[in-house]
Amino acid sequence: MLEHKPIFILAIESSCDDTSAAVLMNDKVLSNVVATQAIHEEYGGVVPELASRAHQQNIVPVVDQAIAKANIDKKQLSAIAFTRGPGLMGSLLVGTSFAKSLSLGLDIPLIEVNHMKAHILAHFIDDENMSAPKFPFLALTISGGHTQIVQVNDYFDMTILGQTLDDAVGEAFDKSAKILGLPYPGGPLIDKHAANGDPFKFEFPIPKVKELNFSFSGLKTNILYFIQRNTKDNPNFVQENLEDICASIQYTIIEILMRKLKKAVKQTGIKEVAIGGGVSANSGIRKALTDAQVKYGWKTYIPQFQFCTDNAAMIGIVGYYKYKSDQFAQQNVTAKARYVIS
Ligand code: KG4
Ligand code: ZN
Repeated sequence: MLEHKPIFILAIESSCDDTSAAVLMNDKVLSNVVATQAIHEEYGGVVPELASRAHQQNIVPVVDQAIAKANIDKKQLSAIAFTRGPGLMGSLLVGTSFAKSLSLGLDIPLIEVNHMKAHILAHFIDDENMSAPKFPFLALTISGGHTQIVQVNDYFDMTILGQTLDDAVGEAFDKSAKILGLPYPGGPLIDKHAANGDPFKFEFPIPKVKELNFSFSGLKTNILYFIQRNTKDNPNFVQENLEDICASIQYTIIEILMRKLKKAVKQTGIKEVAIGGGVSANSGIRKALTDAQVKYGWKTYIPQFQFCTDNAAMIGIVGYYKYKSDQFAQQNVTAKARYVIS
């Protein structure tokens, strides 16, 4: 049998506030280094200018570490994949320029990657703890910047069936957390406090939104008014009820997501359902998806935690599939803050 030479992809992700680099050998992750920028915590959200400056500081050591951990020499690299968009322009520019220069320096091809596509194709990373969905499948991509239901027909054939009309689900978590006085990013903290709370203690309305689209800005306003009303009578209301408030908010957000997913399954007849994006780290949504296997007969796919939030390994897996189908970028490729998947 003919032995195929392995493909080594160096991947770079810098779309928001995580600087990440990974090395893949074919579809296996050899290293996946993520430098999270703590600087934004005190501002209650990502400050774009600070993010791009931190990327500039982090990118060289992060890439160096990824190559060292993979235990390969740069000369072995077959190609460089990078996040072209969507994301913050200043942040994207750092990764894009770095990838372009290194590809020139090493004289190897360049591959541009759509960040949202990468959240979906992260499921195809060869990992003993994960199995890959079968085409066609539905992907619910839930992150700090996006909320979409995508029909995935093939690696490079995707259709958006529905999306948020205002805030992303991650923003709904983070903004609710901010109202409760929790630091940024509040999503994981709501998750943590929700674990011991009663999800039915407080009720928040489920918005009525057409078709397979979402809306989260109304929920945020409802939570704000609810907290203002209750703290007027009892200034310690939040502290005394934090676990129940978090559990009730999380329950409402998951209800919104699951109702739309059920509708999408009904509409398409596709029962293979995968999630991706930072919010898929949420324990409530992970449980709801796992339960849906027995409850509705779906086959559901949940990525490992390290491949849920922003990471370069997911950029690398797209890079690998693009490499195999000769989809390379030219040196004049530019970053794209708005970049719709197709
Ligand atoms: O995909 P991601 O790392 O970055 C973007 O592309 O936006 O997603 C970040 C989002 C943040 O809003 C964060 O609060 C949320 O994912 N998140 C969570 C959890 N872990 C991260 N939200 C709820 N529960 C979690 N456990
Ligand atoms: Zn993301």
